[in-house]
Amino acid sequence: MPLLLPSSLYGLARPFLFGFDPEHAHEITLDGLARTQNTPLACAYSAPRVDDPVTLAGLTFPNRVGLAAGLDKNARCIDAFAAMGFGFVEVGTVTPKAQPGNPKPRMFRLPQRDALINRLGFNNEGLDAFLANVQNARFRKNSGGKTPMLLGLNIGKNAATPIERAVDDYLACLDGVYSHADYVTINISSPNTANLRSLQSDEALDALLGAVAERREALATRHGKRSPLFVKIAPDLDEAQVAVIAATLQRHRMDGVIATNTTLARDAVAGLPHAAEAGGLSGAPVREASNRVIAQLRAVLGKDFPIIGVGGVLSAADAKAKIAAGADVVQIYTGLIYRGPALVREAAQALLRDRSKA
Ligand SMILES: Cc1cc2nc3c(=O)[nH]c(=O)nc-3n(C[C@H](O)[C@H](O)[C@H](O)COP(=O)(O)O)c2cc1C
Repeated sequence: MPLLLPSSLYGLARPFLFGFDPEHAHEITLDGLARTQNTPLACAYSAPRVDDPVTLAGLTFPNRVGLAAGLDKNARCIDAFAAMGFGFVEVGTVTPKAQPGNPKPRMFRLPQRDALINRLGFNNEGLDAFLANVQNARFRKNSGGKTPMLLGLNIGKNAATPIERAVDDYLACLDGVYSHADYVTINISSPNTANLRSLQSDEALDALLGAVAERREALATRHGKRSPLFVKIAPDLDEAQVAVIAATLQRHRMDGVIATNTTLARDAVAGLPHAAEAGGLSGAPVREASNRVIAQLRAVLGKDFPIIGVGGVLSAADAKAKIAAGADVVQIYTGLIYRGPALVREAAQALLRDRSKA
């Protein structure tokens, strides 16, 4: 039985980590997790996983709390996150080739609002290194007969690839990740890669998802398994845009939608230090917009279409509000930075209790 220390330990670690520049703190943390995962030191952040299985897109999610993409872009720490009790972990965004991302500094804390702004720009070591890390992960073997945690692999395009050739990058990534993923996420909503979000508009989305859906059929035949495809969208969309996206997802038989990525809006943080930095805003200030998009999606997609809700989950109550807005399961990024790994179990337990009341 792992020691249940994560909240108290994170209480000690947070002031230390917040003393560093955010990206440096992030690197220190990931290095620590990569070194200690699958060793006795992992007890510092391990917690028993809440057992609350839910079936979505043909997959059994062991519980309803997942790690959002972008925290572990190179898939180095999958086993550490599995030990924290997540029901599912999404790694990436990976691009076909390694790329450095935008110039530093490119990540900022807004602690007054439990928020971050980032303009990392898909800094990552590329598809080959990513797949090597994914293949080294042991969480499936470590699951000890229990339902294994699910692994989502999130794919994008290189900054140097012209937007008209974006489809090539998504197909190259899809080919590479397909057989290793429980689900694949098509990320078309990062604000930090020029023109990426234009892929959400009618014709571009239709062309991208048409090509991806066709390739998935070929890959399903080749590998003898049909991996679900999820599409990750932005919160900065109006109701009409959400409706068009929803219809396009259904037309191309996508298996789910992840709502949402970070926001370009700044009204909730206006006047605070760093608020004027370019990039995507995450954490508490994106919660309302994310919940609005989730509710709109649920209204147009009907009750059975899988929706993964993400954006501003910093407490058990926030996780419950996402489900109430229409999400089936939730993901966390910024909440983990501000609240530490204890949030995973807290949120998963709250959703379990909520269900038992239903
Ligand atoms: C520093 C940082 C990097 C991110 N990188 C990615 C990424 O590579 N791919 C992606 O799909 N989302 C990325 N995201 C977005 C998150 O997955 C999530 O959708 C968003 O932050 C809202 O959730 P949160 O409020 O819980 O952080 C990133 C977020 C942050 C804060």
